[in-house]
Amino acid sequence: MSKVIGIMAGSLRKESFSKKLSNAVIAMAPEGFEFKAIRLDDLQVYNQDFDDNNEVPQAYTAFREEVGQLDGFIFITPEYNRSVPAVLKNALDVGSRPYGKSVWDGKPGAIFSNSPGAVGGFGANHHLRQSLVFLNIPVMQQPEVYLAKVNELFDESGAIKEGGTKDFIKKAVDAYISWFNQNAKK
Ligand code: FNR
Repeated sequence: MSKVIGIMAGSLRKESFSKKLSNAVIAMAPEGFEFKAIRLDDLQVYNQDFDDNNEVPQAYTAFREEVGQLDGFIFITPEYNRSVPAVLKNALDVGSRPYGKSVWDGKPGAIFSNSPGAVGGFGANHHLRQSLVFLNIPVMQQPEVYLAKVNELFDESGAIKEGGTKDFIKKAVDAYISWFNQNAKK
């Protein structure tokens, strides 16, 4: 049976570069793996009262069930104010609770950050890494993926252009598969 890797883009924007990158990454899944886009759009901002008072929103339940069945994750994050966009941090928070029932625990992950700017989302990448360490997601170390000038990567149909950056992303996906195979729970 295929291993299922969740591909999570940290943007709700219709024309999001992170979503376009997600589509490109999904098309790179090797044999034996399914790369599945995980929607973050419907998750209310996390409120602990929902869990404490047994008033859990249906969107939380659906998200926790879906992510709970995944084997690993690739996070494709833009950078907001040198950090992780709230929608992605919120998804991590929702999936981490109730206490002791985190859906992230022990599943291998990777971070691909991106920006139209020159720094490639470095700040978001490392803030996200901090949270993933706490969530006990073994996060791929190398290659580090900071995709700069992401606005130049796609053609008019939204497909990723052939070239060095696409080749690098493919290498990073292949490295993640090796990382997954070394670190996934048996
Ligand atoms: C940004 N942007 C941005 N870019 C960057 O490189 N570093 C940053 O700190 C920020 N900060 C920031 C804050 C906010 C609130 C917004 C809306 C945007 C620009 C950002 O990289 C750009 O809008 C991307 O296109 C967002 O990613 P998606 O939606 O294309 O995936």
